[in-house]
Amino acid sequence: MKTIWDRPTRLGHWCLAICVTLNLFVLESGEVFHQWTGYVALVTVLFRSVWGFFGAEASRWSSQPLAPSQVLGYMKAGFREPGGAEQAAGHNPLAAWTYVFLWLLVVALAVSGFMMGLDAFWGEEWLQELHEAFANAVKVLVLVHFMGIVIDSIRYRRKTWMRMIRGS
Ligand code: HEM
Ligand code: HEM
Repeated sequence: MKTIWDRPTRLGHWCLAICVTLNLFVLESGEVFHQWTGYVALVTVLFRSVWGFFGAEASRWSSQPLAPSQVLGYMKAGFREPGGAEQAAGHNPLAAWTYVFLWLLVVALAVSGFMMGLDAFWGEEWLQELHEAFANAVKVLVLVHFMGIVIDSIRYRRKTWMRMIRGS
C-alpha cells in the first residue's frame, strides 16, 4: 500500500499525542515535568510546521484543503470528498482545520505557561484561567479528532486509526 503519512509526520504525531495526554491527565499540573513536556509539544508543533514545506505530499501545507470554498464544498457534499476514497487520502477540510487549531492551542499553552513563570505575571489568576481554557479546548478538539476517525473508518470502510501507525 502507498505510504501517505511519512515517518517524520507519524513520529511527530505520536510525540504530540503523548505530550498532550501526559499534560492533560498524568503529570502534576504546573510542575517542572509538566513544563518540559509542554515545551517538547511546542518543539514538535514547530517542527511539523517546517515539515509542511519539505514532507511527502499529504503532509505539505500546499496540500491542506483549508480554503473556505473547500470547507463549504465538503460540507455541502454531505461531508464527502469529491473524488471518493482516492481523494480522501490526506486530511479532509474539517480535519485539517481541527489540526491547525490544535497546533495553535499547543503554542498558546506554551506561551501562557511560560508567562505564568515570569515575575510580571506571577500569581495572575486570569493567566491561569486562560491556560486552563486552552487546555479544555484541546480536550474538546481531541474528542472531535477521535469522532472524525470513527466516522471516516465507517464512511470509507478502512482502518483509519491505523493510518498514523502504518502510514497508509
Ligand atoms: C491526545 C492525542 C492526540 C492528538 C493531540 C492528536 C493530534 C493529531 C494531529 C495534530 C494530527 C495531524 C497530523 C499531521 O498532519 O501532522 C492527527 C492526525 C491523525 N491522528 Fe491523531 N492525535 C491524537 C491521538 C490519536 C490516536 C490515539 C490515534 C489512533 C488510534 C490517532 C490517529 C490519527 C490519524 C489516523 C490521523 C490522520 C487522519 C487524517 O488523515 O486526517 N490520533 N492527530
Ligand atoms: C501541551 C501543553 C500543555 C497542556 C496540555 C497543559 C495543560 C495544563 C492543565 C490541564 C493545567 C491544570 C489547569 C487547572 O485545572 O488549574 C495546567 C496547569 C499549569 N501549567 Fe500547563 N499545559 C501545557 C503546557 C505548559 C507549559 C509549557 C508550561 C510552562 C512552561 C505550563 C505551566 C503550567 C502551570 C504553572 C500550571 C499551574 C497553573 C495554576 O497554578 O493553576 N504548562 N496545564
